[in-house]
Amino acid sequence: MGMNSKAVNSGGKKRAKLSKVAVLTSGGDAPGMNACIRAVTRGAMDRGAKVVGIKRGYSGIFTKNFVELDSRAVANTIQRGGTILESSRCDDFMTPEGREKAILILEEEGIEGIAVIGGNGSYQGAAAIAKESRLRVVGIPGTIDNDIYGTDYTVGFDTAVNTALEAIDRIRDTADAFARVFFIEVMGRKSGFIALEVGIAGGAEEILIPELKIDPESLAMTLKKSFDRGKRSSIVVIAEGNETGHTIQIAQYVQYRLNLDCRVCVLGHLQRGGTPSARDRVLGSRLSTAAVEGLFNGKSGHAAGEKGGQIVFTPLREASEQKKTLDNLSLESMRVLAL
Ligand code: F6P
Repeated sequence: MGMNSKAVNSGGKKRAKLSKVAVLTSGGDAPGMNACIRAVTRGAMDRGAKVVGIKRGYSGIFTKNFVELDSRAVANTIQRGGTILESSRCDDFMTPEGREKAILILEEEGIEGIAVIGGNGSYQGAAAIAKESRLRVVGIPGTIDNDIYGTDYTVGFDTAVNTALEAIDRIRDTADAFARVFFIEVMGRKSGFIALEVGIAGGAEEILIPELKIDPESLAMTLKKSFDRGKRSSIVVIAEGNETGHTIQIAQYVQYRLNLDCRVCVLGHLQRGGTPSARDRVLGSRLSTAAVEGLFNGKSGHAAGEKGGQIVFTPLREASEQKKTLDNLSLESMRVLAL
């Protein structure tokens, strides 16, 4: 594994050995999270540590919702969607008072290290624990959104994209039968990674993403051109957080402006569930194996990621604050391939 093994100085508070580590999943669940939990558990056990699963994300710390994890507890989970540890978005953990209470509970429980699997919000919490306690903390990027800085891909993205793509392929059949325009909304409140990937793979005529503002009139004109050129049907992929507007309103605008038969399909949480793809299982296993190795080598306050096939570690604070940008070639493909 091409891992940077340089130990990170955690403020002179580093422990020599970890005898008990915890793992939790937080924020939007993502297919492949179970592969992460499994790899963290087995990796830590391999180093002689006890493993505690914290259920329902950071909320489970306050309610002491802890389960002992061992090799058997995580068996037969790699193929399952969702997260066996369950998840939540915990407001209490976002306050210094809340964290003080939570850190005390973790310390009383004898937990010395913690692996946090989640997205940006989860990383903010993890960065704060690393700063405010003696615990060693590592992040593993688990979110379908792929919007985490410091890694090319997040665990769950590949499965979500393939799930959405399957739906789009099916919709295209009926769109073509009726010569309709379908506006398909995919997830992504703040980023267009899913929309861009799904739009390119699904041959969408237009892709609306939060990073690029397109006004409804130019969208209508793009669609008009493609119908004028003889296209029978069109697919427009819309990220939920796009800058053009609400999906239904966009569809209505096009319907009345061009007198086309328009339909809307919101894929929603469908994209979050289901069997993780091979890619997500392997990515989750690799990143978590690296994360545990880092944790036991003294790394703290960092997130594991994969860039160009190499394992890298990025400070949690930086990973949660920096904006990951869309790939320029994908943006250019989006423009050229829709012709
Ligand atoms: O962060 C993952 C995600 O699925 C986003 O794509 C989406 O905007 C959000 O979570 C939905 O959150 P909730 O499940 O809380 O409605």
